[in-house]
Amino acid sequence: MKLKLASVFFCLFAYATSTISTELNKGDLAFDILQNNYNYCEANTLYSPQYQPVLGSDLVFVQTFIRHGDRAPYFINNSDLHLWNVCNKTIFNSVARSIFVKDVSNNTLGVNYVTSKTNMCKASELTQKGAEYSMNIGEAARRIYIDKLKFLYSEYKSQKQLRVRSTNADRTKETAKYFLSGLYPITPSNKNISTTVFHYSYDSDTMVTNSNLCQKITQIQNQIISTPRYQSYLAADPEITQKINLMFDDYQPNNTIFKNTRINQQDILQTRVCHQFKLPCNKLGQCATPSDAKLELNNLHFEVKYKKRDSRFSPQLVRFAVGPFFSQILQELNSAILLHKKRNAVRMSIYSCHDDTITNILGGLRADDFNFLWPPFNANIFIELWKNRSTGKFSIRIFNSGRILKVLGATQGDPSPWCDFNSCNFNSFSEYIKSIIPANLKAECAV
Ligand SMILES: *[C@@H]1O[C@H](CO)[C@@H](O)[C@H](O)[C@H]1NC(C)=O
Ligand SMILES: *[C@@H]1O[C@H](CO)[C@@H](O)[C@H](O)[C@H]1NC(C)=O
Ligand SMILES: *[C@@H]1O[C@H](CO)[C@@H](O)[C@H](O)[C@H]1NC(C)=O
Ligand SMILES: *[C@@H]1O[C@H](CO)[C@@H](O)[C@H](O)[C@H]1NC(C)=O
Ligand SMILES: *[C@@H]1O[C@H](CO)[C@@H](O)[C@H](O)[C@H]1NC(C)=O
Ligand SMILES: *[C@@H]1O[C@H](CO)[C@@H](O)[C@H](O)[C@H]1NC(C)=O
Repeated sequence: MKLKLASVFFCLFAYATSTISTELNKGDLAFDILQNNYNYCEANTLYSPQYQPVLGSDLVFVQTFIRHGDRAPYFINNSDLHLWNVCNKTIFNSVARSIFVKDVSNNTLGVNYVTSKTNMCKASELTQKGAEYSMNIGEAARRIYIDKLKFLYSEYKSQKQLRVRSTNADRTKETAKYFLSGLYPITPSNKNISTTVFHYSYDSDTMVTNSNLCQKITQIQNQIISTPRYQSYLAADPEITQKINLMFDDYQPNNTIFKNTRINQQDILQTRVCHQFKLPCNKLGQCATPSDAKLELNNLHFEVKYKKRDSRFSPQLVRFAVGPFFSQILQELNSAILLHKKRNAVRMSIYSCHDDTITNILGGLRADDFNFLWPPFNANIFIELWKNRSTGKFSIRIFNSGRILKVLGATQGDPSPWCDFNSCNFNSFSEYIKSIIPANLKAECAV
């Protein structure tokens, strides 16, 4: 009995200190990370020489979800403002497309979007690097959907084949702008064609975890934070956490954005890693090390997977966080099926979004461990709708940052994939997605 108790204590102790690195070192995942070159600073994407159309099938519609590119940190210390002087995007003026940004609920609120002329970044602003890399992702999509498949018109004469939606944040609107500039490079004859990018208001946007659309979300998030597993995660490595906390001008011990998540501790370090800037030091002169940066990135790998897939509250969270968005995604696919024989129908829908959007989608689809790593800047999901030429049946293929998405079983604990996304029967896909969409959001979300 005594022996048993001792080993329980030993397990708990080991659990609290090394469980995250253990999870990440699990054979398959460690191999995948190495093999597939996970890079938080620049996501992989589709690569034309390796890209093949689905056999015997025609492409009907594509939905692209792209996280914004490299950005300045969420929090910039006053003393650090000089460091973040990498946001002058006028250097891209000659190659960047103009966009017209419209609030979906109010047509009179449209504006021709103007990018920043100053070098100094605002907190969380898209950097020049982020703009350039977003263009690269657009170019990669061009090589496939225009050059290889001839799915989209090669000349940009109007927007009619494209629908572009963003969240109401500057970095996502700009990411859409630069992605479009790579997809359709500026030429003398197309440079005047403006592209409309629409967004919802913050309060009604389904592209983010929105407690305004579902009050119950906050309650579920708190339940997840209260689990022993998550509390032991937060309690691990207290010295490092405290060292990094003291790097923020705005740090307050009772503030939940520093207390209940490691997202800001990760952000203050990784944003610098992505620019090869010296890691910061705190008020006491203690400096962050590369191993701290790695630890915080690993923390986020765990945090997001636990919140959106593995905790017993995750299925409920995901239902409310992504269900309303899944409803819009499915509606768009269904209408693409109805309209696909029409000339000039929309063929590509571009969603410029956040890490939160990407992990909500991945949580909803129950992505496997590798696919559930913390989404890099410009993480990109392509959902392709194909039609089999001989049977007329529709199927779905999904790429997550350049690789076929792999998923687990539809319910927790079931490891066998609920679909193979090399080619997933559209009806199975549709039935699964519908199972996540709340039929009556208001009723289900009542607290
Ligand atoms: C749209 O926005 C304009 C300008 O802010 C405002 O005057 C108008 O009332 C709004 N219309 C609607 C339908 O909200
Ligand atoms: C931003 O870049 C443009 C083009 O390179 C340059 O002309 C301009 O002076 C820069 N702005 C600032 C504030 O340095
Ligand atoms: C583009 O717009 C500008 C200003 O409206 C105009 O002067 C120019 O002729 C237009 N160019 C083309 C190719 O349409
Ligand atoms: C957090 O602590 C600070 C200083 O101790 C205090 O001013 C502030 O009101 C507290 N905030 C909350 C949300 O408790
Ligand atoms: C924030 O500012 C303090 C001084 O105000 C400084 O010691 C610390 O290094 C800064 N943090 C970062 C991340 O640069
Ligand atoms: C298309 O349908 C044919 C005939 O049923 C089948 O052999 C083929 O595997 C299908 N292709 C795909 C990609 O599902």
